[in-house]
Amino acid sequence: MTTESNQTIAVIGAGAMGRGIVQLFAQSGHRVKFYDTSEAAVAAAHAFVTDMFDSKVDKGRVSREEADQALANLVPCTQLGDIADCDIVVEAVLEDLEVKRGLFAELETVVSPSAVIASNTSSLLIADIAARCKHPERVAGLHFFNPVPVMRVVEIISSVRTAAVTVDRLKACIDTTGHRAVLAQDQPGFLINHAGRGLYTEGLRILEERAASHDQVDLLMREAAGFRMGPFELLDLTGLDVSSKVMQSIYDQFQQEPRFRPSSIIPPRVAAGLFGRKTGEGWYQYPDGKKLEPAGAGETCPTLSDNCSVWIDPEAEDHAELSALSQKAGARLAQSPDDASLLLVQPWGIDVSQACADLDLDASRCVAVDPLPSLEMRRTLMLSPITRAQSRDDAAAILGADNAPYTIISDSPGFVVQRMLATIVNIGTNIAQRGIASVEDIDDAVRIGLGYPAGPLALGDSLGPHRVMQILEGMQRVTGDPRYRPSHWLRRRAQLGESLTTGEAARG
Ligand SMILES: NC(=O)c1ccc[n+]([C@@H]2O[C@H](COP(=O)([O-])OP(=O)(O)OC[C@H]3O[C@@H](n4cnc5c(N)ncnc54)[C@H](O)[C@@H]3O)[C@@H](O)[C@H]2O)c1
Repeated sequence: MTTESNQTIAVIGAGAMGRGIVQLFAQSGHRVKFYDTSEAAVAAAHAFVTDMFDSKVDKGRVSREEADQALANLVPCTQLGDIADCDIVVEAVLEDLEVKRGLFAELETVVSPSAVIASNTSSLLIADIAARCKHPERVAGLHFFNPVPVMRVVEIISSVRTAAVTVDRLKACIDTTGHRAVLAQDQPGFLINHAGRGLYTEGLRILEERAASHDQVDLLMREAAGFRMGPFELLDLTGLDVSSKVMQSIYDQFQQEPRFRPSSIIPPRVAAGLFGRKTGEGWYQYPDGKKLEPAGAGETCPTLSDNCSVWIDPEAEDHAELSALSQKAGARLAQSPDDASLLLVQPWGIDVSQACADLDLDASRCVAVDPLPSLEMRRTLMLSPITRAQSRDDAAAILGADNAPYTIISDSPGFVVQRMLATIVNIGTNIAQRGIASVEDIDDAVRIGLGYPAGPLALGDSLGPHRVMQILEGMQRVTGDPRYRPSHWLRRRAQLGESLTTGEAARG
């Protein structure tokens, strides 16, 4: 009898994804039939998976016996009809709606009426793929990430017609692999590609505004926000040719939602072939395949000017630390902005120009210090368009007085880290608001699938929902851009003093 742990799974399409899916199911004890219109692709996938298991044996990760057992599960097929006895079909052919639609209609005539048919599509709607099926209730999405055995998260996508039992069967099957199955609705980008929009689009916005350079954004996201990679390093990894299409497609599918608006600085780069690692040049250069670190990404600390006096906004989050650093650097603390050669402020969601207008300060003497994440991490100093070189250097001398690293950027509502994190949280909370996935699934999917240090809702809780609101409202006030309007999920919980992830409010 077939159980959850010894199913017959058919994988259609034996390319980059198909072969990884074959490997994962074979090592999880399932019999795996795989078919491709190209016989060479079937043979290549067979050889690839065999090599993968041999190499696992060589590295001592599995025994020869375990590898042989997994390899015995592989059944290469030469015709579509060979998969007739399968329990589950996973389609991983090229990303073309007509090809997938035709294939799904044909699959229904080949497999048994009880078989589940799933697509690994990244960007097409499941309902569209199932449009010619007689039984769309047994069709769902099963979205793996590349490389499949390593990326331990799988999205199971329900279309408006998918039956609950179809989802249950796919989930039970994925549970046998050790990957985390997350459930998502049939919406553009599903869960993970939807949640990933914030990092890219906001990074590009910062660059467009010339608030910071691409390498400064990446540096701050790594060293201040704790991400493994910044948006531009990630774009170089995935390839701008691929990422630009995903950006445009998700924006269009969401009916030009401003939160997902792609940037006009992308098409000229795509046209010029600056795709990233694969073409040797993207945002960075890759001579011999290795990233060339741009010169001058860090800052060298200047010396404090004679008679420097500093006024620190009494509302500043890190008032005590900034006072101590000023004294350590040799500056005199001033009680009034009128008596100081340097004014330090720590605004939330707004830029230095707006802070100076709000507080009636002289912008030529003013420098802002990002209170996020804290002064323990790489610090961000932000200048107004008229901040004097002397005030900039004095601020740098103070913020570098304990040899901590810092980055100086131009005027930007929400610096870099504030606006990046607030955008990520806002999009994540909107996914929850729309019921595309549960709170737990959103956070796990983003952590595992995108490698963020925390999921967007947990991130929002650690910043504080009220603080995230403050940043977004500040950004919206300064820019007038509706992309920064807070989601209802976030606003309501911030107003009610509730967590984004736990308690009654997180459920609905
Ligand atoms: N590459 C990724 O990072 C990635 C990640 C997640 C999902 N996906 C999705 O997975 C699917 C496959 O992507 P890939 O990168 O493996 O593509 P690929 O080009 O490496 O492989 C596609 C394979 O499908 C075969 N094929 C084409 N038409 C077929 C048909 N009618 N029947 C059987 N085989 C057919 C081709 O011969 C080819 O071997 C796409 O839908 C893609 O969007 C890709």
